[in-house]
Amino acid sequence: MKLSIAAIIGCASLASALIPDSTYNYEEYVETFKKKASSSSRQLFEMRLGEALAHNSQEPKPSYLKGINEFSDIETPPMGRKVTPGLKGKNNAGSYKPQMAFEDLPTTVDWRDAGVVSPVKNQGGCGSCYAFATTATVESHIALSTGLLFDLSPQQVVACAPNDDHCGGFGGCMGSIPELVYDYLIEAGGYAEEWSFPYVSYDGQTNGTCKSGDDLLVKAGITGYVKLEPNNAQDVMTALAEIGPLAVNVDASNWHNYESGVFIYESYDDMDLNHVVVLVGYGTDEDTGLDYWLVRNSWSPTFGEAGYIRLLRDPVDDTPCGVDNSPQDGTGCDGEGTQYPCGSCGVVFDVSYPTGAFIA
Ligand SMILES: *[C@@H]1O[C@H](CO)[C@@H](O)[C@H](O)[C@H]1NC(C)=O
Repeated sequence: MKLSIAAIIGCASLASALIPDSTYNYEEYVETFKKKASSSSRQLFEMRLGEALAHNSQEPKPSYLKGINEFSDIETPPMGRKVTPGLKGKNNAGSYKPQMAFEDLPTTVDWRDAGVVSPVKNQGGCGSCYAFATTATVESHIALSTGLLFDLSPQQVVACAPNDDHCGGFGGCMGSIPELVYDYLIEAGGYAEEWSFPYVSYDGQTNGTCKSGDDLLVKAGITGYVKLEPNNAQDVMTALAEIGPLAVNVDASNWHNYESGVFIYESYDDMDLNHVVVLVGYGTDEDTGLDYWLVRNSWSPTFGEAGYIRLLRDPVDDTPCGVDNSPQDGTGCDGEGTQYPCGSCGVVFDVSYPTGAFIA
């Protein structure tokens, strides 16, 4: 019956963040997470519980803990894209040119402290990570330019943003990429707020209905975007410090039972970039001394550290790279081959941010 509840800032009321002990069982899981019991759910839960207990009891203590959450009985959490390199969109504003010298960067960046990051959302069973990550990134850049932080509408993106070349999926709940979202937003005039275009794709059964013209209550928008040079970790750190949060593509294949701490990525030989998230900062973990990237996910605040995960951050001049042999998988932009992403989960490979943020 005993469970330690991780101290999670800002998420105290949720049935979340369970670090199990060996007495924890499926019946408790079903009750806590309001699950429908089934043999397949039990089987996955028991496998994940076993993994978490074995991982957490290692000596020396691992740099991060695995836990039990709403994803523990689900085969793969929703992600919804494959990465595509290069410039896919029409409105790319050119390359990023760092202004700050690398030696002058702060040791810690966390844009939440500046009040420009909205609460973590939940994409549900829809492959709309790209919509949530891009929306959160745009929200932050609008807040940085205007001082006003809105909850904008990922549903608008899911329902409206075209994906004709099948970049990162097929569009809607079937995945896409940030560049195509920026392009769509520029052409549509901007974003509606969440209240006027609410999320209906949670269970993945519908892409929602697109609105345009007078039906679309545009609140804020952007005029362009920038893509960073692929795999330039120093630029990623500098842009994070001097520009703001960044939309990034990652391999989230092994994130489902991440609970807390600095996640160590081990799949460089067989990378599979499949998720879009937001880089919100970087720093150094006080307990372990490990450097990390701070990443906002869209799997609700019950995931990880109040909805966030910290990924190991390697020295910028010694960032490991790997191979992603399946960027197409029916989902990369039609006709693309092997990619070589760098950084934990490929975090410094495909990085972008919007420009010209405005309020309508
Ligand atoms: C959502 O849109 C995608 C891309 O057009 C399509 O493949 C998929 O079938 C749609 N899903 C639903 C539930 O309509």
